[in-house]
Amino acid sequence: MKVFVTGGAGYIGSHTLVALLAAGHEVCVFDNYSNSSPVSLARVRQLTNRDMEMVEGDICDLDRLTATLAAFTPDAVMHFAGLKAVGESNDIPLRYYQTNVTGTMNLLAAMDAAECRRIVFSSSATVYGEAQYLPFDEAHPIGPTNPYGRTKAMAEGVIGDWASATPGASAVLLRYFNPVGAHESGRIGEDPRDIPNNLMPFVAQVAVGRRDKLSIFGDDYDTRDGTGERDYIHVVDLAAAHLAAIEYAVRTTGCEALNVGTGQGITVRELVAAYERACGHPIAFEIAPRRPGDVASSYAATAKARELLGWRAALDVDAMCASSWRWQSENPHGFEGD
Ligand code: NAD
Ligand code: WQD
Repeated sequence: MKVFVTGGAGYIGSHTLVALLAAGHEVCVFDNYSNSSPVSLARVRQLTNRDMEMVEGDICDLDRLTATLAAFTPDAVMHFAGLKAVGESNDIPLRYYQTNVTGTMNLLAAMDAAECRRIVFSSSATVYGEAQYLPFDEAHPIGPTNPYGRTKAMAEGVIGDWASATPGASAVLLRYFNPVGAHESGRIGEDPRDIPNNLMPFVAQVAVGRRDKLSIFGDDYDTRDGTGERDYIHVVDLAAAHLAAIEYAVRTTGCEALNVGTGQGITVRELVAAYERACGHPIAFEIAPRRPGDVASSYAATAKARELLGWRAALDVDAMCASSWRWQSENPHGFEGD
């Protein structure tokens, strides 16, 4: 299949490219490198020994997007490009709406012009907001609590309306829980530009000596050990879910939202302990106040993805930490060294 991949140079996109190329798909990546480096694409090519088209462009540039899609004539689109920092979305909400919502509308318009009717979209469990019950299943009410989450919920709505109005269209909205880990080669991985917002990259940078210690945001939650509980999903499992999702899009029409998680909650302390096993030394930490907006627990109901995609997560927290550590220890400054 010919697959057009927006944001393919980023963390999740690059891992999915490896899976797509290894499965024999033909790929065109469209990325403005605002939060990534073309070095990741060079490494994907080395890892897979396969070539791909790479176009530097912004999804907010409708003309460039339309021309690129018209030239590539994809069978399906995977849409990773977007802005993803919850805190930043409070400070510059309009940029988030512009990129994540208008960018998605541009992409759908360009797909219409190129007669491409299949899309797999990077959504987020953050669209659920405060848990009314756990685990989150796909029927849980949508109620995002920050601008980033609202852009994802809006983009889901736009894609759903497009799919309803477009004969033969198929859309899969993948609601990722907490993607972590790296390709087993250690050649690609998560490479945050600034101070990491998320737990795993922060722990990785403490482990490798780039930061002194982790702040654990609260140890008085109603969980096994008082620290926040999340559903961490190995990025290689997530990549496999994308492959299953485009195959599903080929054999169906309509729009489905699907959780992508393991179904298992892991606490901050449990994740730190697993990382210590992986790197072989202690991770320094302090207990800090709760982070505003955080919830005690979040984890996925996984039955729908299993039934519709035939996909389930296979890799555990030790595999997540071991692969993250290989990437971080072999590339202490990310892609910058190249
Ligand atoms: P990332 O920042 O590593 O990748 C996003 C890519 O999109 C980057 O390569 C960036 O340069 C590119 N990009 C950003 N704005 C663009 C624009 N205007 N035009 C073209 N390219 C642009 O992030 P990621 O972690 O790989 O996330 C990929 C997608 O998954 C995002 O849409 C994100 O919201 C979603 N998601 C991520 C997580 C997570 O925890 N990582 C969780 C749920 C959902
Ligand atoms: C996990 C746990 C923190 C950092 C976010 C987004 C969500 C999605 C995934 C994109 C929590 C604790 C964290 C630290 C800590 N992204 N923590 N010290 O908040 O579950 O989800 O990323 O769609 O939208 O909100 O992930 O990794 O930030 O936090 O103690 O330095 O780690 O309190 O319990 P979160 P996270």
